[in-house]
Amino acid sequence: MIDEMTTVLEPNPLPDFVETKYIKDITHRALSYIKAGFPVHLRGTSGTGKTTLAMHIASKLNRPVVMIHGDEEFTTSDLVGGEYGYRLRKVVDRFISRVLKTEEDMVKRWVDNRLTVACKYGFTLIYDEFTRSRPEANNILLSILQEKMMDLPVGRGGEEPYLRVHPDFTALFTSNPEEYAGVHRSQDALRDRMITMDLEYFDYETEVAITRAKSRLSRQNAETIVKIVRGLRQSGKCEFPPTIRGCIMIAKTLKIQGMTPANTNGNFMQICQDILASETSRVGSKTNQDKVRQIVKELVENVSK
Ligand SMILES: Nc1ncnc2c1ncn2[C@@H]1O[C@H](COP(=O)(O)OP(=O)(O)OP(=O)(O)O)[C@@H](O)[C@H]1O
Ligand SMILES: [Mg+2]
Repeated sequence: MIDEMTTVLEPNPLPDFVETKYIKDITHRALSYIKAGFPVHLRGTSGTGKTTLAMHIASKLNRPVVMIHGDEEFTTSDLVGGEYGYRLRKVVDRFISRVLKTEEDMVKRWVDNRLTVACKYGFTLIYDEFTRSRPEANNILLSILQEKMMDLPVGRGGEEPYLRVHPDFTALFTSNPEEYAGVHRSQDALRDRMITMDLEYFDYETEVAITRAKSRLSRQNAETIVKIVRGLRQSGKCEFPPTIRGCIMIAKTLKIQGMTPANTNGNFMQICQDILASETSRVGSKTNQDKVRQIVKELVENVSK
């Protein structure tokens, strides 16, 4: 029984998950690196499917999954564990019923956190956006990945100052290369211990399949949306290229309104412009948005011909 305060996820396949050739290929490669004993790192810009793929790969390993999201505020004890809480004891005197004695003792109890739980029981760890955490917090991972040993801080008790990592332990990492510069430099020693797979935007077939799976639109309508989004991405005029999330937002909005790109009296254009202009600029700069709106207008007119 695992009594630590940790959420452990079942390795279930995700609903609406589509497996195109592109997805199967990446999954297959990642699994073969894992089988060879290496942690896998999926690196790509926003919306390239890193988190979803990591969960999919994890589900294929058939071990319980523990997930951590990188965070600048993290310390090593957020990953490993720490001493939490006081113990409170109530003593009820059975002879004198009015006596109720509460004993509070100051001994804090050590609670293992997610990383320790995963190493101890051989679970699959997904460390999403690991570069958002400070390198000092992640240092604990160096010996886990290399020597398969986990140093345990004093305070945890137990016989040994380290924990031997369970042989079934696997780690999957994700990161966004755009964040390295801004937040923390990539942790080179850590990165050197994993196999990094660089993800690009999905291929056309996968984008259409995901758009359809998420919205239940027809193939033809999903294709229209994907063509517009890809056209805008390829124009190279956006501060941030639109992602699959743009396709999903447009498709779901159409579906809920019972519209198709062909029968909307100009609403389709409006929806595409609203969603794509906002998705592709950070500060909402008017000039940028107008530029994007104009490109989207041309793209919508072209695909509707
Ligand atoms: N194979 C797939 N099947 C169905 N949906 C998918 C698939 N891959 C990705 N998606 C969907 O595409 C969207 C983006 O994927 P995801 O969140 O994994 O990207 P990400 O690279 O982690 O993005 P971010 O860097 O912003 O976290 C999500 O809505 C996700 O549900
Ligand atoms: Mg993600």
